[in-house]
Amino acid sequence: MAEIIARAPSNIALAKYWGKLERAGNYPAVPSLSMTLNGLYTETRVEFSADFQFDEVLLDGRVADESTRRRVSALLDKLRTLAGLETRARVVSANNFPTAAGLASSASGFAALTLAASRAAGLDLTPAEMSSLARECSASAARSLFGGYVALEVGAHAAQPLLDAEAYPLSMLICLLSSKPKVMGSTGGMQHTRDTSPYYSAWLEHAPRLYDEVRAGVLARDLERIGPATTQSALMMHASMWAARPALSYWVPASVAVLECCAGLRGRGVLAFPTMDAGPNVKVLCSPDSAAAIGDELEALPGVERVISCNTGKGPVTLEVASLALSGKEKS
Ligand code: PMV
Repeated sequence: MAEIIARAPSNIALAKYWGKLERAGNYPAVPSLSMTLNGLYTETRVEFSADFQFDEVLLDGRVADESTRRRVSALLDKLRTLAGLETRARVVSANNFPTAAGLASSASGFAALTLAASRAAGLDLTPAEMSSLARECSASAARSLFGGYVALEVGAHAAQPLLDAEAYPLSMLICLLSSKPKVMGSTGGMQHTRDTSPYYSAWLEHAPRLYDEVRAGVLARDLERIGPATTQSALMMHASMWAARPALSYWVPASVAVLECCAGLRGRGVLAFPTMDAGPNVKVLCSPDSAAAIGDELEALPGVERVISCNTGKGPVTLEVASLALSGKEKS
C-alpha cells in the first residue's frame, strides 16, 4: 500500500482547554480557540504492510515508549476498522523543533498521524472527520487539522476553522526557558485539578466568557481585545492548578520574568500578551511588525535560552518527499 507523508502544524490556544467532560471520548469541558503556527510542525510517514508483525512507532529517530505506542495503535485500529484493513503499520515521525525543549508536540503529532495514516489506509476523510479522530487522542490535536484561528466547542466532535491565516496574520514568540523535568502530562494534570482544586469550578464557569472575548476579538481582527483575554485565560487556568493539592506548577523563574517583561512592554504601549500551556515556556502574542524588537528584548532576559518567532500558519498537508530527517526507516 502507499506510503504517505504528512506535515501538520502546532497550535497555541488563545482561549485554553483544561478539563474534560465526564464521558468517554475525550471531550473538552470548556471551549477553546487557537492560532495555528507556521514555524513549528511535525512530519509523519505511515505505511501499512503485511510485512509488519506489529505497529512500529519511531519518534525523532527513537522507538516510542509503550504508552505512546498504545495511543498511536488505538488510532490506527480505528482507521483499520474504517478501511477494512488488517495489516500493521510503521509510523516514523519527527518534529522540526527540539522535543527536549518541552514544547507540546501532541497537537501537531496526532494531527500529522491522523492525516498520514488515514490516507495510507486508503481513506479519504474530510478535515472534520480527521479532526474528530485526532480529538480522541489529544483534544488540542483536533485544532491542528486547520489553519488560521480554530475553535473547539464543548461536546463538539471536531474543531472548526474561524478565520484564515491570511485574513489576520499575528505573531507568536515562543520563549524557550531553562527546562524543568516534565511535571505531569496534561491528562493527569486536568484530573488532579478537577479532583483537588477548589478553583476548578471557577475556571469552568469563567473560561467560556474568555473564549467569547477571544472569538469576538479574532473576528474583529483586534489584538487589543484578543490579548488581555488570552493572558487571562492562561493565568486563570494556571491559578486553578496552583490551587490544587499538592499544587501543580509548571513554572520556572524565567516564566515570571517573561510575564514581567511583557507587562513592561505594554506599559510602554507595545502590545505583547503572554500565554502558557502545561510547561514552563511562555509564548508571547504580538503584531508581526513589533515581533523582531520584542523578540530581542525577550531573548536578553536571564533564563531565556532562545526565542522562536512564528506567525499565523496554514493547516496540514501531505508531501511527496519528507523534508525532515525522518530517520528510522533506513535503520530497519
Ligand atoms: O490536548 P492536550 O491533552 O495535550 O491538552 C492541551 C492543554 C493545553 O495545551 C494546556 C491547552 C490547550 O488548549 O492547548
